[in-house]
Amino acid sequence: MLVFTTHTEIHSFLSDKKKSVGLVPTMGALHKGHISLVEIAAQENEWVIVSIFINPTQFNNPEDLANYPKNLVQDKIALSAYDEKLILYVPEPEDLYPEKLESKEYHFNGLEKHMEGAFRPGHFNGVATVVEALFKKLIPNRAYFGEKDYQQLQIIKALNKQLDLKIKIVECPIIREKDGLAMSSRNTLLNPEQREAAPVIFKSLKEIKFHQTQWSVSEMEAFFQASIERESQLKLDYFYVAKTSDLIPTYNLEAGMTYRIFVAVFAGKTRLIDTVELEKKNTFTPC
Ligand code: PAF
Repeated sequence: MLVFTTHTEIHSFLSDKKKSVGLVPTMGALHKGHISLVEIAAQENEWVIVSIFINPTQFNNPEDLANYPKNLVQDKIALSAYDEKLILYVPEPEDLYPEKLESKEYHFNGLEKHMEGAFRPGHFNGVATVVEALFKKLIPNRAYFGEKDYQQLQIIKALNKQLDLKIKIVECPIIREKDGLAMSSRNTLLNPEQREAAPVIFKSLKEIKFHQTQWSVSEMEAFFQASIERESQLKLDYFYVAKTSDLIPTYNLEAGMTYRIFVAVFAGKTRLIDTVELEKKNTFTPC
């Protein structure tokens, strides 16, 4: 497998090749969700760059950064099926942050304000800083992101527009475990009791989706909160319904608009997020 630690090596390697390049940015501890992005990128591009970089500037909690799972050996094995077209980029911080390891400040028309933006101050500035660096240094034709981090995905799309780099952002569906838990590198941090309790998150979201035309947002929220409270291993961080276009939480569902539920739940110190779309029906019950 081709492994580089600097973007200049990648440029030299690709310089004499006819190429389309897909970028899959990751923080490692790869799971089937990441591999699904690599699979799509491999179908659409001659070369796929997978970056593995645990980006310190996007962590608002130092303990979370220190505990973030790492397993480069396992990650290489997980990527080995794509060896022929895969470039693994494992930079040191200096390659992405040549001056100072700190975030720039961004504004995305309010997309960054709520949910993860409010509960993890500075998080999206850190994400945007590293994604801007990855985009500018690697100059891919396409970049692949999962819908589990839906707010991040919308912010990256807005960033891409601001930067005007003409990169195509490819949105990829959430990949779930058999019991419905959204795949996440953080799932490896769950103890057996927390892992057993965690599927209630998606189970409850599915139940809400089933009742979406009858329940108000307050009823959805109360149902979710009660489901999480019944599990001693879990603690609700937030439940919001927001319009997909502006990501502003609302209790008022207008007919014909598209919404999403966004949740964050703690299992011990591990924070899990999930999201589902509410269908575009004209029969929402107003609250
Ligand atoms: O979603 C992630 O893994 C990270 O936020 C990303 C996009 C790789 C930036 O560090």
